[in-house]
Amino acid sequence: MDIAELNKQFADKSPEEVLTFFLHEFGDKIALSSSLSIEDQTLTDMIVKIKKDTKIFTLDTGRLFPETYSLIDRTNMKYGIKLKVYFPKAENIEKMVSENGGVNFFYESIEKRHLCCQYRKLEPLKRAFEGLEVWICGLRREQSVTRHDMQMIETDTLNGLIKLNPLINWTEEQVWDYIKKNSVPYNKLHDKGFASIGCQPCTRAIAPGEDIRSGRWWWEDPEHRECGLHKR
Ligand code: ADX
Ligand code: SF4
Repeated sequence: MDIAELNKQFADKSPEEVLTFFLHEFGDKIALSSSLSIEDQTLTDMIVKIKKDTKIFTLDTGRLFPETYSLIDRTNMKYGIKLKVYFPKAENIEKMVSENGGVNFFYESIEKRHLCCQYRKLEPLKRAFEGLEVWICGLRREQSVTRHDMQMIETDTLNGLIKLNPLINWTEEQVWDYIKKNSVPYNKLHDKGFASIGCQPCTRAIAPGEDIRSGRWWWEDPEHRECGLHKR
């Protein structure tokens, strides 16, 4: 596939148009990875309306908020689907926790934090990729300094996949408009000051006007605030 050509072709098309093309072209070789964020919930709503049997999966790190678990149930119920849930390998977590002296050892350094993300997210993600050719994500360019130069369609050489970011050009306001107009279920924590939501011990609420990702790994510098899922 000519990625540059596809980016040109879809530059002024809607996310639904891009999704329609890819979902039909790749069938069971394409999947959405959902963290249950407002972006992923928007994509889930669009995908279900276009091609309901598309694979949608989430990585359950074992450290998610109760509100996120409840959103998995609410989403399955509303759309009549079953999100595929991938878990970390128990033996990896047992070893990591015993070698590091506690479940919350990741506050100690960036290296330790990356180790926890590696076992709780990246290893399960590798398994979720088996048999896939295209990975759909909810990344938006304006989310972070680390995402400004991302494209709608990219080659993910690290994982040997095409990565599709249908909402790359959308603003947060556009996402919320879609959610409200289409009654898309969203995480109740958003009504309590949470913006970007990941694992419970690594996410906190933010003050109005603060950067949307400043509640994630808040003790680290902004350029480090990625879990490694979107390494390029
Ligand atoms: S992260 O790198 O900081 O964790 P973020 O929460 O912004 O990423 O999510 C960006 C995209 O990564 C999501 O739209 C989703 O596609 C994917 N993603 C992040 N966390 C998960 C998860 N727990 N399960 C599945 N996909 C995820
Ligand atoms: Fe571990 Fe925090 Fe990474 Fe979750 S976000 S996997 S708890 S370090």
